Amino acid sequence: MSVAIAKPGGSIRGTFTVPGDKSMSHRSVMFASIAEGTSHITGFLAGEDSLNTLSAFASMGATIKQDNTDVVVEGVGMYGLHAPTSDLYMGNAGTGMRLIAGLLSAQSFATKLTGDESLSRRPMGRIIKPLSLMGADIAGDSAGCPPLSISPAATLNAIDYELPMASAQVKSCILLAALYAKGVSRVTEPAVTRDHTERMLKTFGYPISLPDSNGTVQVTGGGKLSACDIDIPADISSAAFPMVAACISPGADITLTNVGVNPTRTGIIDILRLMGADIELLNPRQSGAEPVADIRVRYAPLHGVDIPEALVPLAIDELPVTFIAASVAEGVTRVTGAEELRVKESDRIASMAAGLQTLGVDAQPTPDGMVIKGGAIGGGTVDTFFDHRIAMAFCIASLRATAPIMVNDVQHVETSFPGFFELCNAQGMNLRVS
Ligand code: S3P
Repeated sequence: MSVAIAKPGGSIRGTFTVPGDKSMSHRSVMFASIAEGTSHITGFLAGEDSLNTLSAFASMGATIKQDNTDVVVEGVGMYGLHAPTSDLYMGNAGTGMRLIAGLLSAQSFATKLTGDESLSRRPMGRIIKPLSLMGADIAGDSAGCPPLSISPAATLNAIDYELPMASAQVKSCILLAALYAKGVSRVTEPAVTRDHTERMLKTFGYPISLPDSNGTVQVTGGGKLSACDIDIPADISSAAFPMVAACISPGADITLTNVGVNPTRTGIIDILRLMGADIELLNPRQSGAEPVADIRVRYAPLHGVDIPEALVPLAIDELPVTFIAASVAEGVTRVTGAEELRVKESDRIASMAAGLQTLGVDAQPTPDGMVIKGGAIGGGTVDTFFDHRIAMAFCIASLRATAPIMVNDVQHVETSFPGFFELCNAQGMNLRVS
């Protein structure tokens, strides 16, 4: 177990680059592996989650050379993967497991997908149901959780599916299976979620429609992917931590370079601006299919807001650190429509409420969100429930704490943000990990 001790205060200044986008890193390796030809990926997230995806595809026959954030993948084509010699371990990664399950449902060999303790508790019924409707042979344990056992199906049929929840993982899982299905599949989401799968499929030369006015995308099975070069921008979900650090730290002025600012991911910017934050997008440009910019954040006093529900799926991974911003904002912040937070790497409503209450913050959990009355953050020892984003959120809280915060079990930070503690200290915080 690693523990972080975060001393109060610090001045947040400088220019930094956070690691590559996790969602895009998973997808880049998956698509490059089933493409024809050699793809070059730069900006890859060399974190545990995406490295597990990389190992899974290497064990199924893709030739993958990784040198830190540079990855070269020799794809084997749509039907070139072979059976791995052992179970595929996806670690902590819901994205890795759910997306790969869609793809593996269409293969001519059986696979078993396993995960760590946290992933083994996460719901897989949400993908088992649509994949089974397509004809896949896939099962979880008796509670519908991992491990997932997938056997070859005779054929996969196209599906017309309305997602019961706003989930890019479920959408992407179905789209990956649909690449192999007979006919035209349609997937409709109840609210806009990240669209990296759709954008990256196009980059690999696979046609997919734009969403129509109902939010339906459609794709026809039986095509192929062609190798390409992908430059992955910095992850806005990781950038959110230094962004909030700067928002709550008087005198702060930081710039985060080359951050992905896809509109399906920028809910955190909208929410912080609604709270009064001073955030500028500099040098906006296009990096392949994805928009990027440098993000400058200067301190400005924050006030509480009712977070619009439409922004929730666009900031779903950034809500834990948003709760830290709300804890020092003037007035009350209410989050509703965020029940999906309960099935992330931990139950993030319960994990954040417990830690905030330990630190003396008036935070009241609700079934689908939280009500936080801004005020002072005290010191104390908080649990992370083995969840990387809970760990990072409470480290950031120390900037405005009145006494040190001890954050237990911070080792999972490696899944998404290698170098987090070093970056915090380089920008002016006082963190010690042992
Ligand atoms: C992701 C989708 C989101 C997000 C996760 C990454 C993706 O999950 O929380 O960290 O890459 O598609 P859900 O689809 O479960 O909302």
